[in-house]
This record gives sequence, C-alpha cells and structure tokens, in this order.
Amino acid sequence: MSEKMWAGRFKKQLDSKVNDFNSSIRVDCRMYKQDIGGSIAHASMLAKQGIISEEDCEQIIRGLEEILNDLDNGKLELDLTAEDIHMFVEAELTKRIGDVGKRLHTARSRNDQVALDIRLYLRDECDEIIILLKELILELTKKAEEHKATVMPGYTHLQRAQPITFGHHLMAYAMMFLRDIQRVEDTKKRMNYSPLGSCALAGTTYPTDRYDVAKSLNMNGITLNSLDGVSDRDFAVELGNAIALIMMHLSRLSEEIILWSSWEFKFIELDDAYSTGSSIMPQKKNPDIAELVRGKTGRAYGNLVTLLSMLKSLPLAYNKDMQEDKEAIFDSIDTVKLCLSIFAPMITTMTVIKENMYNAAAKGFINATDVADYLAKKGLPFRTAYKISGTMVAYCIDKNTVFEKLSLAEFKEFSDLFDEDIFDAINLERCTFARNSQGGTAVESVEEQIKAVKEILK
Ligand code: ARG
Repeated sequence: MSEKMWAGRFKKQLDSKVNDFNSSIRVDCRMYKQDIGGSIAHASMLAKQGIISEEDCEQIIRGLEEILNDLDNGKLELDLTAEDIHMFVEAELTKRIGDVGKRLHTARSRNDQVALDIRLYLRDECDEIIILLKELILELTKKAEEHKATVMPGYTHLQRAQPITFGHHLMAYAMMFLRDIQRVEDTKKRMNYSPLGSCALAGTTYPTDRYDVAKSLNMNGITLNSLDGVSDRDFAVELGNAIALIMMHLSRLSEEIILWSSWEFKFIELDDAYSTGSSIMPQKKNPDIAELVRGKTGRAYGNLVTLLSMLKSLPLAYNKDMQEDKEAIFDSIDTVKLCLSIFAPMITTMTVIKENMYNAAAKGFINATDVADYLAKKGLPFRTAYKISGTMVAYCIDKNTVFEKLSLAEFKEFSDLFDEDIFDAINLERCTFARNSQGGTAVESVEEQIKAVKEILK
C-alpha cells in the first residue's frame, strides 16, 4: 500500500482490511477515460485562467495522455490498493512528471471530480443503450413487415379475445422500446451538466471558469449550485429507472416468446443457435435466453432500489455512501446491454408458424364481438347486441359447435336482423383486416405504424 495523499493528518497507516473495504478502484476503474478527459479539461482551464503556468499545463496534459495510452493498451497496471481511480491516476501522474503533477488538483476536489466522471461515463453509456434499442426496434419492424397479414389470436387475461395480426403485436413492442429511447435521451440531457468546480462543496477562491470545462467536455452547461453539484445522483436513479423499464418491456416479450415456443402454443420456433437442450430429456428445446432476460429483470429493479435507498436521507453534501452508486448502475448498464444485444438476433432468426397462429385464432369464439357489432350496425343498441351474442356463444358451447357452422335459420332464432351477410361478417380474415381504425390491427394500419417508427428513428 503506497502512502495516502491525505497521510499528513494521520499518525498511523490505514489498516489493510480497511483499505480494501474503502477502496473502489475495482469498480470505478472503468471510468479512467472520463477521469483523464476531465482532468485534461480542468488543467487547460487552470492555465487559461492563469492559475497554473502554460508549461505546467502542457506537462500535465502530456503525462495524462501517456497514462491514458498505457491504460488503453494494458501497459500500465492498476494499483488495486489505491483508494479509487482518481487517486490512482493522480499518483501515477506525479510518479511520471514529478511535483508538477501535484498542481492538477488545484481548485478541485475528488467530490466534484467523481461527480463529473460518473456523469460523463453514464452519458456515453446512454448513447450505446440507444444504439442497441434502435437495432432491436429495426428487427421488430422488419419482422412486423413480414407478418403484417399473419393472423393470430389477441388475448386479454390470456384468454382469446379478438383476432390481430402478428405484425401488430410486434409493433406494440416497437412502440415501447421507442419510448425507452426517448426516456434515455431525456435522462442524458439532464445529466450532461458539469459539476466540476463545485470543489469539495462550497466552490473555490480561485478564479476558475466552469463553463470552459463544460464546453470542452461537450456538456450542456454547469450545475448552478456547488452543494447540489457534488451531492446528488438523481441522474443515476433516472438512468436506473429507464433501464428498469427497458428490462420490464424485454421481460414481457420474453414471457410471450416462452409461451409461444411451448408445445401448447407452438406459434414460433426459436433458432437452434438461440435455444438450449436438456441434460436428461432428449426432446427438449428450451428458450433459455428469454428466460434469462426475464430473470435478469429483477437485477435492474434491485439496482434501482439500491440507488434510491443509498440516497435516501443523506445530508448534504458528499457522503461515502455515494461510492455505492457505481456498482449498482454499472450492473444495470451491463445487464441491459447484454440482454438487448442478444435479443435482436433472437427475434430475427425465429421461425413463425403461421398456420398454428391462424388455427388458434379460428377457435374460441374470437369473432363474438363482431357478431355483436353486426347487430349494432343494423340498429340494435350495442348492449342488447352484446347480450344476444353471449347467448349464442352459450348455445354453441352447449351444442359443441361454432358460429361459422350455424345455419342462417339458427341465427334468425336469436335475431331477425341476421341475414346472409353475417357469414362474411364473422369471417376470420375480415374480422382482422377490417379493424383499420387508427392504431388498429389491419394491414394498412400496421404499415402506418412501421412508417411512423422508421420516420422517428431517422
Ligand atoms: N471513490 C469515491 C466515490 O466514488 C470518490 C470520492 C471520494 N471523496 C472523498 N472525499 N472521500 O464516491
């Protein structure tokens, strides 16, 4: 363990177990790029403002760039006894360029430094999550285009409700993931403000220019209150929330994929490359990926609660509790990226078994609403028509038959309004493709949805 930078105030060395407990370098080392980038912006500003000399600034920047390079290609190993990545980089800089390195931390504290680094890191991750969401949406729209006329049962309460197209069903998820993109974009907008220059908590007596740092880091501006700048991690909670929602959406699609690939449904078959077998039952082909995504959703929820609980009741300003933010939000990020990247090709490669979808839709009195609509359009109040249709369902179940097999005479026993055209009105294709209201399930409506989504993604 090397000597601590704050050793001056202490008479004894830190206990080595305590050092280990206190250290976050194993977790925060992944922010080294952001840490060094932030330091370079800071040093440049210090020089511009005449707080350090131009020569010192150049030395510092060169030293930092070399460290970055060496970390990038594995030439420089991390000192795992260091307190965190910020201390490590600074110590390494001083090792390399001597006392000049000790000027870097002028008008800065680790409190604003870490607050900046985590914002920069999460900002970059937002972009990656958005790219993965876009890929998934594009795969969903491609499949939806292929299956805009594939008839399947639509469910409520997991009971057959009304016929829909498979394309319509897939586009429902495309819309959810589209909102997820907007949520991540929105989160990114708010987090992209620089807290650097808040210093420990109260600002500084040096003539710093915080806007200069924000500008060179491509941020939207600065946090306007120094206490707030070092104290809040609401942006991490927001991203944790956006990720929890993405995972929630993925888990619902996962659940459907699991159901659809069961023998009971057999609406789809997953590609061999995206399923696994059983160690004992030779016939099995398991949707493990969908199950794992469903299972991992719990982590994202857990991380969100961790972040909220970590911040709850913390007095201003920095408290060490806040070091716990990274493990939670990094795990959410890793999880969602992994799930999204594996989900898109699983959708692309799955086989849709159209005839099973169609046959399932042809059963279960899925056209009962259309019988009621038929009577309502001929003048009956909808509630009365609904009751007649219900009575007819009971009659058919009793006689072990379906609407399509009734004779016109039988129809007429329930209402005089029934005519020859009832058979067309209850035809499965018609029931599906005639639902062409805005946002409905008909082919042209699904086409509209696909067009709109592609337009927004452009
Ligand atoms: N490793 C710390 C964290 O992640 C850095 C900030 C430490 N500041 C301090 N005054 N102890 O939160």
